[in-house]
Amino acid sequence: MTKVLVLNGPNLGRLGSREPEIYGTLDYAGLQSALLKTASELGLDADVRQTNSEAELISWLHEAVDTGSSVVLNPAAFTHYSYATRDAAALVTKAGLKLVEVHISNPHAREEFRHNSVIAGVASGVIAGFGVDSYLLALRVIAS
Ligand code: DQA
Repeated sequence: MTKVLVLNGPNLGRLGSREPEIYGTLDYAGLQSALLKTASELGLDADVRQTNSEAELISWLHEAVDTGSSVVLNPAAFTHYSYATRDAAALVTKAGLKLVEVHISNPHAREEFRHNSVIAGVASGVIAGFGVDSYLLALRVIAS
């Protein structure tokens, strides 16, 4: 069974109440259960996690390498400035594992500082702007 870690960065645990006009009304628990349902339909062994800590997110990316897991990564604000997260993400794709960067919103349609992703250059691909479907599409890519 293909293993996949779905990793969420800072503030994504606040989904549902955080700027619902941008991120929607589904809360983090709802996101988790939608992801686990789709993953099992696709025959994926998924683990869905969220952290506000850059160090923890990096250790999870190392874990993906060590366990041969594909990754769906919403780095949240780390997207725009965390070279350490980029370097850890690069370890995943250099190991031959898929890493799909996802965003709920379309950062390119928002403030200037969100237009750049320091992660995208080492990701297998990027899916943004489709709400929760960004994650579900990423799972499909990993299953295919
Ligand atoms: C986000 C977009 C980022 O710019 C922002 O910092 C987030 C969420 C998204 O999923 O749309 O926290 O990654």
